[in-house]
Amino acid sequence: MRDIHNIVILTGAGISAESGLATFRGPDGLWEGHRVEDVCTPEALARDAVLVHRFYDERRAKLAAVRPNAAHEALAALDVHWPGGLLIVTQNVDDLHERAGTKRLIHMHGELKSALCAACGRAVAWADPLPPGSVCGGCGQPSLRPDIVFFGEMPYAMEAIDAAIRDADLFVSIGTSGAVYPAAGFVQTARHVGARTLELNLDPSAGSLCFDEARLGPASELVPAMVRDLLA
Ligand code: APR
Repeated sequence: MRDIHNIVILTGAGISAESGLATFRGPDGLWEGHRVEDVCTPEALARDAVLVHRFYDERRAKLAAVRPNAAHEALAALDVHWPGGLLIVTQNVDDLHERAGTKRLIHMHGELKSALCAACGRAVAWADPLPPGSVCGGCGQPSLRPDIVFFGEMPYAMEAIDAAIRDADLFVSIGTSGAVYPAAGFVQTARHVGARTLELNLDPSAGSLCFDEARLGPASELVPAMVRDLLA
């Protein structure tokens, strides 16, 4: 891990699994028999807003019952102590990275603790259930929806993420199946600019072979070990 200055770390549902949050594509990945692709689309929201809002209400309520695990805590320690550039990009909509203390963080797929006005585009902090028809405090329209990037929508902050990867010396992917683009393609950009690439995951992912190194195991063990190496 010598000669590393700028680091970009991508996280997915696997980093929160040991906190008790279900992953999307594992054996526990169905929600009331729905595939995630069936509830997380603009079409599903238009067809059955009650179902889609309830899906996210349940997930938001669950946050109160879970805590960051050793992997989130190790990344927060890296954020505090790493003297170079660091960006943690999470596909997760939970708040466990920030609750662990990470500051240099982008939620590229949105956040459960935020509501988005479909009429004016304003995002507001939101902790409660969010029934369809909730009124936006900015424009007064009954257009608040979960602030989640649905399949087919553009993830947040792509320019900033791309710029950080293009400057990176090390790109690390943690707990993601590599099934969803554009995040699944970040490793290719990192390789293209000559960054070292490392995957930490419980199982081999769709993109494992693209990485210089893949370590298999639980995030709560692999991430603290990686952070110890980096800060040594
Ligand atoms: N430690 C490390 N990895 C783990 C652990 C663990 N304890 N438990 C599970 N994993 C791994 C699984 O092996 C799997 O490869 O985490 C990965 C989780 O994959 P997915 O469920 O597909 O989650 P993710 O890759 O984050 O999904 C991407 O898909 O549905 C959309 O927008 C949603 O952000 C999500 C995106």
